[in-house]
Amino acid sequence: MRLAGLHTSSLQRHSELTPLAEQTLRRCHVIAAFSETSGSITRTFLSDPMRDCHLAISGWMKELGMLVTVDAVGNLRGLHGSGDRPRLLIGSHLDTVPCAGAYDGVLGVCVALAVVAALKDQALPFDIEVLGFSEEEGVRFRAPFLGSLALVGRFDSKLLDLRDANGCTVQEAIRRFGLDPTRIPDACVDQRAFAFLEFHIEQGPLLDRAGESIAAVSAIAGQSRLEVLFQGRANHAGTTPMDLRQDALTGAAEWIVNVEQHAQSIEGLVATIGTLQVSPGAGNVIPGEIRASLDVRHACDETRISAVRNICRAAEQIALRRGLEFSFEERISQNAVLMNQHLVNLIEQAMRRIGEVPRRMVSGAGHDAMIMAEKIPSAMVFVRSIAGISHHPDESVRSEDVEKAIGVGVAMLTDLAAELRRAQ
Ligand code: GLV
Ligand code: MN
Ligand code: MN
Repeated sequence: MRLAGLHTSSLQRHSELTPLAEQTLRRCHVIAAFSETSGSITRTFLSDPMRDCHLAISGWMKELGMLVTVDAVGNLRGLHGSGDRPRLLIGSHLDTVPCAGAYDGVLGVCVALAVVAALKDQALPFDIEVLGFSEEEGVRFRAPFLGSLALVGRFDSKLLDLRDANGCTVQEAIRRFGLDPTRIPDACVDQRAFAFLEFHIEQGPLLDRAGESIAAVSAIAGQSRLEVLFQGRANHAGTTPMDLRQDALTGAAEWIVNVEQHAQSIEGLVATIGTLQVSPGAGNVIPGEIRASLDVRHACDETRISAVRNICRAAEQIALRRGLEFSFEERISQNAVLMNQHLVNLIEQAMRRIGEVPRRMVSGAGHDAMIMAEKIPSAMVFVRSIAGISHHPDESVRSEDVEKAIGVGVAMLTDLAAELRRAQ
């Protein structure tokens, strides 16, 4: 890989970035061991393994001379530079879905550290803050983006009262981690921040199918996440005739099939029921209550919002017909977001400089960058996911693709530095 046009002293040859790419992958594997489940990767918001994860990454940050802090919502933050200059933010999330792969989120944090390492002896005209967001997936409290929402000043205090499966509130989880929830407003991005950059695996098949390594992200599709409740009546499974039942699970089952049919009928719409809690939960009791998650996404916000409306209306009708009650709570309705055009152009320019054909694509997955974009110009670089597998233990990336991502980061930061110097 050649980064044409760089100042001689910052010229990164293939052989200089290869060890950084290998180190990046080794680090992802180190972090993968910090898990709530044995034999698989599950690391949710402010869990005990997240402490170990912070400890390891803080160590790597300190080796680079960075000033390490953890803000009140648990985002790990490492500052490279004096702290009083324009600030470039680079990061991704440290939490995972249950039974996750080793790269979703963590790769972006480790690539950020590799870019800092590659440039640490350069005289850059800006500081770099590397961010390890505490929560993006929405697993523990069924509300995503808790980390980045705090950075853009949009962490609603109502979120503090959400409870996890064990009844622990967000507020209690923050305190147990040794943090002070009343300080969340202080987590807001520094006034000097001028851009946010996120490296992430693609989590889909497009790059792999095209035989390409990396891409710039031009936009991120919107998403709605809801918690739904079907309430019927629990009763004896042996004595209650079929026509006298108010079975919440059969109502939910009919609705789930209806959701799938609805999503199949609209081009580009995806809808998923990923969790289902059956209460009281015994083989010989008719299910009295079903709690489920609903995740709906589409590139067009109007289509997504109207789909959510229709899906909820269908649930109400099914519930009515079956003598059940249906209710829902919307946990997030996040609009689709365009990435900053200038930053996207810079990523493409950086791709050209490392000998890659520029490519841009839309992200179907949600990312912290879509929240950060509300406050500061934001952009993303995607790294090919092998076979497009993600949110699964088989998730994997190629070392040479990671090396290209680091190369793009180095080239882009060098261009940003030149731009800033010209403007000063
Ligand atoms: C994040 O992984 C998402 O759900 O898109
Ligand atoms: Mn994910
Ligand atoms: Mn992710």
